[in-house]
Amino acid sequence: MTDAGSIRVLFVDDDPDDLNAIDAVFSGRNVTVIKASSAEEAFSFFDSNRIDIIFSINLMQGMSGIQLLERVKEQYPDTIRILMTPKADMYLELQLDVINRCELFHIITKPWKEESLQKSVDDAIKRLQITAVLKNAEEPALHDIAQSIEQKDAYTEGHCERISRYALLLADALELPEEMKREIKIGSWLHDCGKIDLPASLLNFEGQLDENQFKIVEMHPLWGADIALQAGLSETVINIIRFHHERFDGSGYPEGIKGNEIPIEARIVGMAETYDIMTSRRPYKEAVSYKEAVDRLTGMRGNKFDPELLDIFLQVLEKERTST
Ligand SMILES: [Fe+2]
Repeated sequence: MTDAGSIRVLFVDDDPDDLNAIDAVFSGRNVTVIKASSAEEAFSFFDSNRIDIIFSINLMQGMSGIQLLERVKEQYPDTIRILMTPKADMYLELQLDVINRCELFHIITKPWKEESLQKSVDDAIKRLQITAVLKNAEEPALHDIAQSIEQKDAYTEGHCERISRYALLLADALELPEEMKREIKIGSWLHDCGKIDLPASLLNFEGQLDENQFKIVEMHPLWGADIALQAGLSETVINIIRFHHERFDGSGYPEGIKGNEIPIEARIVGMAETYDIMTSRRPYKEAVSYKEAVDRLTGMRGNKFDPELLDIFLQVLEKERTST
């Protein structure tokens, strides 16, 4: 992608009426719409041009849409992939399996609504821009991106900034090398960048997520790590994004790794984030006191958190509190 005016979107659908209707959805917008009526035809466009975003139905003559998107993932990983499928096919098992196999950005239901197509394209453009900016970005640009991600969630302002401060207090106490501390700062800012791919309705959901909704939310560390990988960010930053929801006893997500298998940078940021969430007010909950937060963290010693790391974290928090 070079700029917003050059976004090229390929629609693959064997229903000519639906393909014809696409033009009206994007009229007046800086989007070039390209249409194909089969997977084979879709590939001919990839051969001759860059495609930024591909939408495809699944059931077609010849190669299916899922096979097409899987191949696009392998051959053109920078192209954002979106599946259009009838509501009846939207079983969760299918969704999760296909999301993983094709690394889908979105699934939208057919018949589609104009707004959902436009919203998917807008979200995809945002993701393309974030990936592009992340490449070779300097710290101020990375910080701006972190803030734009933060705005999508109902976090209280300054969440990423505070996490990085707590994480660095711990990193200082551990006397980690300067370069690693810089990576921890950037990883703290970007830890939730995968949330850019989550529907806002799930992010700001009030109350308890059901099992299916939670399974979708659990994907955000993997999606974020994928963004960071494509942007060429360091292994330390990618580890923070990928593993910040793992737990010391192995009951976390996305991979359920435990103990020292969880990179220390991810253990640090996961702890800093939990503390900030506890001590910040959010639209759906009040902040807890410092003492209450310490009690709760202590209750997670050895299950959610690395016990040794937690002891050091509690010491630095206490030191900071008494020195201010
Ligand atoms: Fe997260």
